[in-house]
Amino acid sequence: MKKNKIAPAKGKLGVLIPGFCGAISTTLIGGVEAVKAGKGEPIGSLTQMGRIRLGKRTDKKNPLIKDFVPLTDLKDLVFGGWDIFDENLYESAKKAEVLEKPQIESLKKQLSALRPMKAAFDRKYVKNISGPNVKKGKNKYDLALQLIEDIKDFKKKHGLDRAVMIWCASTETYIPEHDVHTTLAKFENAMKADHPAVSMSTLYAYAAIKCGVPFANGAPNLSCNIPALIELAKKTGVPICGSDYKTGQTLMKTIIAPGLKARALGIRGWFSTNILGNRDGEVLDDPESFKTKEVSKLSVLESILQPETYPQLYRDLYHKVTINYYPPRGDSKEGWDNIDIFGWLGYPMQIKVDFLCRDSILAAPLALDLVLFLDLARRAGLGGTQEWLSFFFKSPMHAPEVYAENDLFVQLEKFENNLRHLMGETLITHLGTEYYK
Ligand SMILES: NC(=O)c1ccc[n+]([C@@H]2O[C@H](COP(=O)([O-])OP(=O)(O)OC[C@H]3O[C@@H](n4cnc5c(N)ncnc54)[C@H](O)[C@@H]3O)[C@@H](O)[C@H]2O)c1
Repeated sequence: MKKNKIAPAKGKLGVLIPGFCGAISTTLIGGVEAVKAGKGEPIGSLTQMGRIRLGKRTDKKNPLIKDFVPLTDLKDLVFGGWDIFDENLYESAKKAEVLEKPQIESLKKQLSALRPMKAAFDRKYVKNISGPNVKKGKNKYDLALQLIEDIKDFKKKHGLDRAVMIWCASTETYIPEHDVHTTLAKFENAMKADHPAVSMSTLYAYAAIKCGVPFANGAPNLSCNIPALIELAKKTGVPICGSDYKTGQTLMKTIIAPGLKARALGIRGWFSTNILGNRDGEVLDDPESFKTKEVSKLSVLESILQPETYPQLYRDLYHKVTINYYPPRGDSKEGWDNIDIFGWLGYPMQIKVDFLCRDSILAAPLALDLVLFLDLARRAGLGGTQEWLSFFFKSPMHAPEVYAENDLFVQLEKFENNLRHLMGETLITHLGTEYYK
C-alpha cells in the first residue's frame, strides 16, 4: 500500500481554545504541563499511551501510536485562547476545581503566564453566565474578523507556522440548521446582518478555517458543522471534526449497546440521568442549552441499534436522558443508567450502571488527541470532515449520505485502519484464515 506524503511536525504547534478558562481547557493545559514536568501520566490519551497492531498476530508488532505516525511532541505545544473571564489560568484552574490544589500550585508559574483574549460572546446563546472580557463589534462579521486578527497575531507572536483550534467553550442554545447556513455567501451575509441563527461558535469556526487552522468541536452546538463551513473546509483543505466529546455516560452507552446488540438481546427502555455541579452543569441548567445536549446524547442509540432493521428487538425502545445541576458535586459527575432489556422468549432483565466519573479528567485527553490528530491530518493533506475521528465524539460529523457511526468498537477500527492507510500499512480485517492453512 502507498504511504501518504506527510509533512514533518517541524517547530511549534499553536493550540487555540475558545473557553480558555474552563474546566476542560485548564485540565488539558495543566495536564500537559504536569506530564512535561514528569508530575503525571497522560492516561486516557491514545496519542501518548495508545498502541496499534500492525501486520499479523504472529508478527507481534504493536508500536506506540506516537512512534507509528509523526505527531507533534508535547513540548512543542503553545497554548492560547479566548474567554469571557479575564483571569489567568492559575486562577481559573483553582475555580474549576478539577486538578487538586497541590498540583495546581506546582504548575503556578506555567499557568499564571496564560491569559485569555477577549471572547466573541452574546448571552443570547449562553444564558446562564456573563463576564467582562468580551469583544465589541459592529456586527457578527466584524467579530469574526477580530478573531481572524487574534489568530494571526498569536501565530506571529509565537513564531508559529501551524495551529489547531478546539472548542472547549460552553454549550450554546439549540439552533436547528437554517437556510443561512447552507452556502458561504449566505452565511457571510447573515454574519453582516446579525442573523440570530449565526451563533458565536460558528464565528470561531469560520475564523479558524479562513486562517487554514483545523477546527474540532468539543460541544454539541453547530460551530463547524454547517454546510457552508464544511464546504469551505473541503475547498481550502482544512480538516474539521466534531461534535461533543464522548466522555462519561455516552461513552458507557456506546460500549454497552453494541454488546447487547451483538448478542441479539432486546432493549425496551434506557433511562439515563446525571448530577453535575460545575459551570458546564450550570450552563446546561438552561433548557435551551440542554436541548442542544439532549439531541446529541439521544442520537447515539438509534444509529447503533438500528430499530428499523431490528424491529422485534428495538422498535419500542424508550430512551430518556436528563442532567441535573447539583453544585456540591462540582466536576465529579455521577451518571446512572437503568437499562430494561429482554432475552429468550421475551423474559425481562435489568442492568444498572452507576458511573462516578470526573468529567474533565475524561475530556482532557480527548481534547489533546484531537489537537494532535487534526494537525497530523493537515500535514497529510486531508481536508474537510474527518470522520475517522468519530471515536472521540458523541455526535460524529459524517457525510450526508451515510448515518453516523456511534459504536465505539467500529469507531476504533475505523480510526486504526485510517492510521494504517495513512502510513501505507496493510489494513486489518480480522479474517484470520491464514493461521489455519
Ligand atoms: N467535561 C466533559 O466531559 C464534556 C464532555 C462533552 C462535552 N463537553 C462540553 O465541552 C464544553 C466545555 O466544558 P467545560 O466543562 O470545560 O465547561 P466550562 O463551563 O468549565 O468552560 C466553558 C468556558 O467557556 C467560556 N465561554 C462561553 N462562551 C464563550 C465564548 N463565546 N467564547 C469564549 N469563551 C466562552 C466560559 O466562560 C467558560 O469559561 C461544554 O460545551 C461542554 O458541554 C464537556
